[in-house]
This record gives sequence, C-alpha cells and structure tokens, in this order.
Amino acid sequence: MYLTTLQLRYFRNYLEQLIEFQAQKTIILGNNAQGKSNLLEAIELLSSLKSHRSPKDRDLICEAHQGAQIIGNVRRLYNEHQLAITFRASGRRTIELNQETLRRQIDFLGALNAVQFSSNDLELVKGSPEYRRHWLDMLLVQLEPVYSSILQEYQKILKQRNALLKSIKEDKSDTLAYSLQIWDQQLVQVGSRVIRRRARVIERLAPLARDWHRKIASDKETLEITYLANVDPSGGQTEEIQRAFFARLESRKVAELNLGTTVVGPHRDDLELRINQTSAKFYGSQGQQRTLVLSLKLAELQLIEEVIGEAPLLLLDDVLAELDLERQSQLLQVIQDRYQTLVTTTHLNSFAQPWLKDAQILTVKAGKIE
Ligand SMILES: Nc1ncnc2c1ncn2[C@@H]1O[C@H](COP(=O)(O)OP(=O)(O)OP(=O)(O)O)[C@@H](O)[C@H]1O
Ligand SMILES: [Mg+2]
Repeated sequence: MYLTTLQLRYFRNYLEQLIEFQAQKTIILGNNAQGKSNLLEAIELLSSLKSHRSPKDRDLICEAHQGAQIIGNVRRLYNEHQLAITFRASGRRTIELNQETLRRQIDFLGALNAVQFSSNDLELVKGSPEYRRHWLDMLLVQLEPVYSSILQEYQKILKQRNALLKSIKEDKSDTLAYSLQIWDQQLVQVGSRVIRRRARVIERLAPLARDWHRKIASDKETLEITYLANVDPSGGQTEEIQRAFFARLESRKVAELNLGTTVVGPHRDDLELRINQTSAKFYGSQGQQRTLVLSLKLAELQLIEEVIGEAPLLLLDDVLAELDLERQSQLLQVIQDRYQTLVTTTHLNSFAQPWLKDAQILTVKAGKIE
C-alpha cells in the first residue's frame, strides 16, 4: 500500500501542511524539535488511531487552537481510501473513511498498515512487560482489527472488577461478593479471547523473528520468543483457556481480596526474549539487543504483509544512524522497493548513501515542509 498524500491541520507544530509523497523512500530531514517525529506520529494515528507518545488528544492539537485534523490518501492494491481524523480540544474525535463518518473504530482500523521503528523500541528488550504487551496489542490490532474492541472490553471489565474488589476489601458485605462472580465470568470470557489471540500471534511471529535474527547475526545466535502468559494458554482452545483461567482465579482469590485488585489475567502477561538460551534483557549486549529489536520489527513487517496481503508502510524514526553499516544494508535489502519507507534524520550523511538513491527529501523547519 502507498500513502499518496498527507494533510495536517493544526496538528502538533504544523498549521496547514499538505505533503505529496512521490517516491518509495522519503527522507524527512531537519534539526531537532522541528516536526519530524510529529509527521510520523500523524501516520501512526491514521494506521492505529493511537499515538505511542501521548494518550491525550489535547497534546496533539497545536497550542492555542481548538481542533486538529489529519487526512491521508492511501492507494491499495484494489482500491483507494481517504482517511481523516478530527481532534477536538473539548470533546470527542471524529473518524472518517472516504468522507463518511464512522461510529466504530474497527471500520477505520486496517485501512492503512504501518510498522514504526524508533530508538525507543530498545525498550522492547530492556523495558517493563507493559511495553511488550503494548507492542503485541498494536500488532494484533493491525492483523485483526476486531481485537481492539476485545481489548477495550477487557480493560473495561478489569476496571470494574478492580473497583468492586476494592469496595469488598473496604466493606466485606456478601452482596458484593455475589456480584464478584458475575465479573469473574466476564473477565474469564473476554480475557480468554485476548489470551488466545496473543498466543496465536506469538506462535506465528516467533519463527519469523528467529530467522531474521539468525540471518543478521550470521547464524551464530538463536532467538527464542516465549509467551509468559499469566494464565496458561496451552491447548489453545477457548474452553481450555477458560478452565485454566477460572482455576487460577480460584487459587488467587484470597490474594485478590486482600490486595483489592485483579492479579490474574492477560493484563499481567509478558514475553520472554532469549538469545542462545540466555535472557536478552539481562545479559544481551547493546549490539545483540539492537539486532533483536530489528529482527522483531522485520518479523512484524513480514507478518503483516503475509496476513494482509499487502506491504505495510515502514516508519523509521531516528534509528538508521544507530545501526551499523552491515545492519543498514541488510535492512535496505529487505525493503528494496517493496515497502514505502519514511526515514527521519538530522543529517543526510548519518547513514549509507544507497538509502538516498531515488529518495524524496523533505526538509522540515519549525512545522513547515520547505
Ligand atoms: N501541541 C503542540 N503544539 C505546538 N507545538 C507542539 C505541540 N506538540 C509538540 N510541539 C512541538 O513540536 C516540536 C517537536 O517536534 P518533533 O518531536 O517532531 O521533533 P523532531 O523533529 O522529531 O526532533 P528530534 O530530532 O529531536 O527528534 C517541539 O518544538 C514541540 O514544542
Ligand atoms: Mg524526533
């Protein structure tokens, strides 16, 4: 798929900006704090309706303005779409597909697929479980948009169950204990769907990432990705997961009542990343960790392409300069002309020359493309 145009209105430090993409590779050049990452963030929003930098729409709107808009035109194999998001300082967003307002997010998600790779992504190896869960969830949303509603529902149930556990802890009445059973049911039902989908995507992703890692590390290293599920998903069938979920809830009930919060469920999941059977988080060298993240991203790119049947966009924010020449050229080989790629940089000479071949260069200065 190909993003032909991107229009920003009062988004971050942009006022009115139209960008027409003219090549498979676009280099976004500019000094610090000029708006390079902001531009990629706008594409991230069109693709996932989420920004990894800010959960609040207010932050996305240009200071002292009341609303912002992102419009993108996407050319796909069999059709073209216009995607638009309108943000308001007071109130809700509007999302539109081909100028028609949509009520449900899932009808918007999936119209544009993108994989973002930024220097922050080292957190996938070094950071907390939350970071890995979030990555997995965002990948799932792209592969199966319905997952976004499942996840939202799970989070809603979790919140309500936590509130209930808290009031039981404070007041200990029997009526409340009875309503807990109802929430247990719901938690298990929706939570099991989250677990099943996560287990399934990891199963598909792990061999792809392992192959990439082996290739980049010249056959010397084996990467293993393991799903550290809070509730055992083995068996894979929904009923089996539900049974395991109920059993674990039962065994942790006293703890949950004492703590006044839910300790069982996929909100406590993690992924384990091991290279040659040792933890990449604790023992991996900087270089190994970088190779690992690159492998994860390439696997993500490949999996989306396999499932969707079209190549997603690749957004490289500040990462190229951090990769050595060998890895840069491996990445370039993978991309070739297959993926529309946007690269941000502060200097054109911060990465290998072949990247510039046939590329469109956009210079950003204070929220304006020159
Ligand atoms: N809501 C907003 N309104 C106005 N300006 C904003 C808003 N949000 C962010 N900015 C401005 O955008 C700029 C940051 O842009 P961005 O993160 O895209 O920089 P960058 O070009 O990627 O820089 P770097 O090279 O440091 O990564 C900052 O100057 C910041 O003040
Ligand atoms: Mg930036």
